[in-house]
Amino acid sequence: MTAPPQPKPCYLSRRRRLLAQLHHPLLLFSGGEVPRNAPSTAYPFRADSNFLYFFGPCEPDCAAFLDPDNARISFFAPQRTPQNTLWTGPQPSFETLKQSLGVDEVLEWEGLEGHIPRLGGGRPLESLAIADERTTQRARKLTGQEMSFGKPGRRGPPALLRALANMRLCKEADEIEEISSAVRITQEAHLAAMRHTRPGLFEYEVYAHLLAVFARHACQEAYSTILSVRGEVLHNPHRGNRLEGGELLLVDAGAEGPHGYAADLTRTWPVSGKFSAEAKAIYEVVLLANQRCIEAVRPGIRFRALQRLASQVLAEGLAGVGLLRGRTEDILASGALSVFFPHGIGHLLGLDVHDLEGFEEALSEASPGPAEGMAPPPLRMDITLKEGMVFTLEPGIYLIPSRIGSAELQKSFGEFVNFEEAGRYVQMNGGRGFGGIRIEDNVLCTPTHAEVLTAAMPKQPAEIEALVGAAL
Ligand code: GLY
Ligand code: MN
Repeated sequence: MTAPPQPKPCYLSRRRRLLAQLHHPLLLFSGGEVPRNAPSTAYPFRADSNFLYFFGPCEPDCAAFLDPDNARISFFAPQRTPQNTLWTGPQPSFETLKQSLGVDEVLEWEGLEGHIPRLGGGRPLESLAIADERTTQRARKLTGQEMSFGKPGRRGPPALLRALANMRLCKEADEIEEISSAVRITQEAHLAAMRHTRPGLFEYEVYAHLLAVFARHACQEAYSTILSVRGEVLHNPHRGNRLEGGELLLVDAGAEGPHGYAADLTRTWPVSGKFSAEAKAIYEVVLLANQRCIEAVRPGIRFRALQRLASQVLAEGLAGVGLLRGRTEDILASGALSVFFPHGIGHLLGLDVHDLEGFEEALSEASPGPAEGMAPPPLRMDITLKEGMVFTLEPGIYLIPSRIGSAELQKSFGEFVNFEEAGRYVQMNGGRGFGGIRIEDNVLCTPTHAEVLTAAMPKQPAEIEALVGAAL
């Protein structure tokens, strides 16, 4: 008989560090399968990220009881029944699981409620809300505490949220390797999509090339891929347009590796393989904002300073192409840039593509108000960079018909935005519009600078032009 695999040391050390910070027993849940339509048809299972952080990949319906008083961990997993084996195949025995996870005991998930009084001994019990609402409901009943996955800062007890956020904020070496591995596969997928782009294809045909690379590496999408000539729709879920010569294709896609870590990469390229003069001018503005932000990264810089820097470069560049007018400081103070750049400059990256989303209150030194001297475009987070943080930098410019045609925005920002010129862009490509340009890289903050994990993915216009359609 072969010996069970040994637990990865990183999981053991994380659990030790967590146990040392707990004041009460903690019950963590992996989450269960979530029905997609009929009860027996589920979405692909993906464990909660905090569970993945401490235990690694697991089957649905697992839980872990962590006891700070004796540093013991009781793990719960579903019963091994012939019926379960019939549908999902054999699973490791509880004894194998105990050894491979490095926990003190493995008990039946089905008997969880019966074990809690014995394990808890009347002490207060803590837990966390997770995306699977049925499991969260179970956590509420067991702990007697209100908690909500969707409400920022309400996922669980504040001290616990702070402990988890602080542990997950700066990445350990093996986490950086996991993210880098997802990045390598993501870059290969983007290259495949770029090389298979030509006018006449449908977006979903290009998407198939990207997905094939993920599948070939046993990865899933870390989030629903955005692949659209309507890139001005920020999270465009549709992939049904036929590609036309003058259009720009925006692809925002990232692989999720086997341990749950994500990449999040965006490139924008011309369907024809050649940027129009207008597209190239705006592309270069976005590229400059991307590069300037990367150059500014070092420990001690606050995220709002990167937002401010990107906004300044974008505002100056858009004034240069005639879409904005006035002094840069006035444009930024007015909020007019948000007509073309209506989102934050980036977000943390890790087990979640928007890593630690929902933990902002536990992380932020102050609530993410506007960057200095700026009317608010939204800051996704506002924290000071530290060595080991991995995050995205993703400036973009979007020619959004509903914003450019908005009487309200025209009234508010007519002094700074050349709406007439913007209207010309919206009418380009036979009235289909200009679209949007986003350039997103994944960056690690080192002691001195940014290491661009996505550096191998071309972003210079000439490099892109050489690749588009090269496989066809
Ligand atoms: N990848 C999509 C986003 O960052 O919102
Ligand atoms: Mn992103």
